[in-house]
Amino acid sequence: MTKLSVNINKIATIRNARGGNMPDVLKAAIDCELFGAQGITVHPRPDERHIRYSDVYEIRPMIHTEFNIEGNPEPKFIDLVLDVKPHQVTLVPDAHDVLTSNSGWDTKRHKDFLRDVIGTFKNAGIRTSVFIDPDVEMVKHAAETGTDRIELYTEAYAAHYFVDRIKAIAPYLEAAKAANAAGLGINAGHDLDLNNLWYLNRMIPGLLEVSIGHALISEALYMGLEKTIGLYLQQLR
Ligand code: PXP
Repeated sequence: MTKLSVNINKIATIRNARGGNMPDVLKAAIDCELFGAQGITVHPRPDERHIRYSDVYEIRPMIHTEFNIEGNPEPKFIDLVLDVKPHQVTLVPDAHDVLTSNSGWDTKRHKDFLRDVIGTFKNAGIRTSVFIDPDVEMVKHAAETGTDRIELYTEAYAAHYFVDRIKAIAPYLEAAKAANAAGLGINAGHDLDLNNLWYLNRMIPGLLEVSIGHALISEALYMGLEKTIGLYLQQLR
């Protein structure tokens, strides 16, 4: 079964709006696991407007499934990851001023840099994943960085799902085939929700994990975290 990793950044965003500890990010992480999520994802950004670096340290010992830290591998981020030692680090080329991640790596252009950083993380026993667009060339170059996995950036799939899902999934199928041929594990994430998840999961061969934040936390406002996570897990079965 494809694993569900819940991205809890949005809970921190709500907490940060008032400066106190409501909602409690640590409790949310523990509860997501309790309700069946097979992983927790955090995405600390340099300005700490969502998850704070201190949250990452607090959450780490409480996670018994898979802890995934994603972000741009700047020196401060690299130090954090090496210190916290999550199960997986996902490298994302997000600029400081973007609202959310808005592109994958150019793995050809940044190959040497990625190879260096990935080597550092792998030497520390941390599995690596590289966030990329569904582009066969990018997959092939990603394989040469030594990464364990890729994370397919699913924004374009989600945006076109209701227009023409066969067309929307096509580049992801090609990218997934190239990844399978290169021996890379496949994760996926961004803009996945209760409508579009099942089809992606059914169509992508060897999909190991999805990380989902915005839609899942938003839906939980109506249905509660436990029911919402249960519905996502159903889509992945
Ligand atoms: N994967 C990556 C690399 C991301 O940056 C994000 C957003 O932080 C996600 C997955 C989750 O996206 P969403 O919040 O749209 O579910």
